[in-house]
Amino acid sequence: MDSIVVTGGAELSGQIPIAGAKNACLTLMPATLLSEEPLTLTNAPRLSDIATMTTLLRSLGAEVTTMQEGRVLAMSSHRIDTHVAEYDIVRKMRASILVLGPLLARDGHAVVSLPGGCAIGARPVDLHLTALEAMGAELDLRDGYVHARAPGGLRGGRVTFPKVSVGATENVLMAATLARGATVIENAAREPEIVDLADCLRRMGAEIEGDGTDTIEVQGVARLSGATHAVVADRIELGTYMLAPAVTGGSVECLGGRIDLIEAFCERLDAAGVSVEETERGLRVSRRNGRVAGVDVTTAPFPGFPTDLQAQMMALLCTAEGTSTLHETIFENRFMHAPELIRMGARIEVSGGTARVHGVERLKGAPVMATDLRASVSLILAGLAAEGETVVNRVYHLDRGYEQVEQKLGAVGAKVERVRET
Ligand code: EPZ
Repeated sequence: MDSIVVTGGAELSGQIPIAGAKNACLTLMPATLLSEEPLTLTNAPRLSDIATMTTLLRSLGAEVTTMQEGRVLAMSSHRIDTHVAEYDIVRKMRASILVLGPLLARDGHAVVSLPGGCAIGARPVDLHLTALEAMGAELDLRDGYVHARAPGGLRGGRVTFPKVSVGATENVLMAATLARGATVIENAAREPEIVDLADCLRRMGAEIEGDGTDTIEVQGVARLSGATHAVVADRIELGTYMLAPAVTGGSVECLGGRIDLIEAFCERLDAAGVSVEETERGLRVSRRNGRVAGVDVTTAPFPGFPTDLQAQMMALLCTAEGTSTLHETIFENRFMHAPELIRMGARIEVSGGTARVHGVERLKGAPVMATDLRASVSLILAGLAAEGETVVNRVYHLDRGYEQVEQKLGAVGAKVERVRET
């Protein structure tokens, strides 16, 4: 397994290009199943998760051609050979459950492996299933698979989510585009990736209103056409790289960054003493003083502070002036980066969903273990300003969500290199 070696101390300056959003692309790709005409995605990120979704769609019989070194995905599912999403692929990436709604909507049946949990939590899919049942699907859970049928096709209905779920909102939104009649989704997720999916589906002929709010209305149509759609910028990669100059000092411009994607995050950065200014090409970030101030952070569904930036924010707060409290409200086990940061000299007390961080002057480099995608990049951020060398192991987690991290950080002056395990 590869590892990433970070030598701390360099101030950063220059530009970092922000790629298309992993979490938008992972729901846009299954949308190809809703039409027999080609769907082409541009500005796609080059990530192992995208490769996994490509493998899954191909296993169903869809054609996926990657062009321009993976930036363009030309997809066509005019022919589907099977409606079974096998465990062996689904277990690698939970977002595979997002083929369930489209397959059901398209052909009235699907067999999709339950995705199982992951490091950050149990990650059930009950909200996906209950919502599809409200649209007339008959579901039978056996042998670790969801056996779903909608003999007469899905029918529009009222779906009220008891808690906000990004994936369940996406599954239902896609299914509703071809359902008979109107569907109202209440307590819908409001993430920019939902809006991006709705924009793409509208280009395909879907009738959708209210995306980006907590109530989405969909008028089912008989069929959808093909389209070409540019994947929205990745707000989590953006927030991650905005933290790099905040950790090290210096000034970095994130190309393609948009404030509207991460307002709650930017408000916390401002409170910590990090300035964010909009430029012609993106967002320029720098520290206002020599050291940031401790701030409190509570994660919440959009437009709140993103849970996917909690680990990275903790890395910054480890060397802030004063104490910070982070409340993780979305996942039950998302502080696994804390023990690794403590190995680097951070002072962190974790109790349930709350972590208290007492800022120290400087961290010390150490060998650390990546446990999940966002935890792994928070350890790299911590290493950027730490004294000496930090070796982050198991970086396969990293490659799921960050393309060319060593090149992007290296281009702004960081000493980051990948050591390939022989
Ligand atoms: C999406 O996961 C993202 N993944 C996650 O990003 C992100 O952390 C999460 O949304 C929250 O923003 C993709 O988009 C591929 P949820 P998702 O359904 O859809 C519970 C990353 O690092 N829940 O909004 O799975 C769930 O356990 C990843 O890029 C149920 O109880 O998240 C969690 O506690 C990590 N039942 C909460 O709801 C369900 O049926 C929010 O989950 C579904 C979810």
